[in-house]
Amino acid sequence: MTINDNPTLLSCLRLLVGLFIGKENLKLYDTLDWQGASDRFSAIDFDYPQYYTSKDFHGIQGGYLNPIAPVTYNAVTRFAAPPNEIKLRQQAIAKIKNQPQKILDLGCGTGSSTLILKQAFPEAELTDLDISPYMLLVAEHKAKRENLTIHWQQGLAEATSFSDAEFNLISVAFLFHETPVHISQAILQECQRLLKPGGQIIILDGNQQRLRHVNWLIKLFREPYSKVYANESVDDWLLNSGFQQAQTSYAGWISQITTGFKFVNYSL
Ligand SMILES: C[S@@+](CC[C@H](N)C(=O)[O-])C[C@H]1O[C@@H](n2cnc3c(N)ncnc32)[C@H](O)[C@@H]1O
Repeated sequence: MTINDNPTLLSCLRLLVGLFIGKENLKLYDTLDWQGASDRFSAIDFDYPQYYTSKDFHGIQGGYLNPIAPVTYNAVTRFAAPPNEIKLRQQAIAKIKNQPQKILDLGCGTGSSTLILKQAFPEAELTDLDISPYMLLVAEHKAKRENLTIHWQQGLAEATSFSDAEFNLISVAFLFHETPVHISQAILQECQRLLKPGGQIIILDGNQQRLRHVNWLIKLFREPYSKVYANESVDDWLLNSGFQQAQTSYAGWISQITTGFKFVNYSL
């Protein structure tokens, strides 16, 4: 007999899952059109990279290409970004120097940073990019609920289809601990290309120095690339990609915020 054959067990299980991820999120699982998400957000010839499809991020089979991922994501992230995930995101956004007109959120996930960005800069045009159509579907749902207009795109952060110097600001939140180092570096090269001169990048992610000492936490959250991420330096990556004024500050208990600017050539 499987759990599916036992209605009492199934109800208990749903209750437990509901307590952890919240009733709202559980309802999303039942009501959103997951099949339609792939049809709406995925280009027919979209090629999912092997570093992405081969890993079960957070222990979820198929990783972000499974509707379970976006439905449980917000609950998991609350614990992964202590003591207060929302405050951390606000702290990162407080480091933005100018009033950006065009903002790109790379690896936007369920849009948690995007929504705060849009509320902070209501006049700005915001574009969200992610590989997973399921994460995009939930991000879109959250934005609609708040009546916010955002452009959505499925794509690879390291090879986007945007034009050179299209954006004033790029936000990269909790992405680099989930990409292999060479991909993170390629994403920063892409950010150089996409930013206008003087444009800013804001990176919120795990605190590399702290993570080096808490391998058990990396294992607990089943993060396939975080151990290698922890041994690197986002500051160095930024400088190597040509960013200026790269600066990292620690935030919360195990997070860090890094900012940098694209070089302005005043002699031109
Ligand atoms: C840990 S989540 C972070 C989501 C969101 N930025 C946040 O702050 O909550 C990482 C997200 O990056 C996406 N992702 C991973 N590799 C990517 C890549 N190369 N290009 C675009 N998105 C990527 C995943 O699908 C996932 O939604």
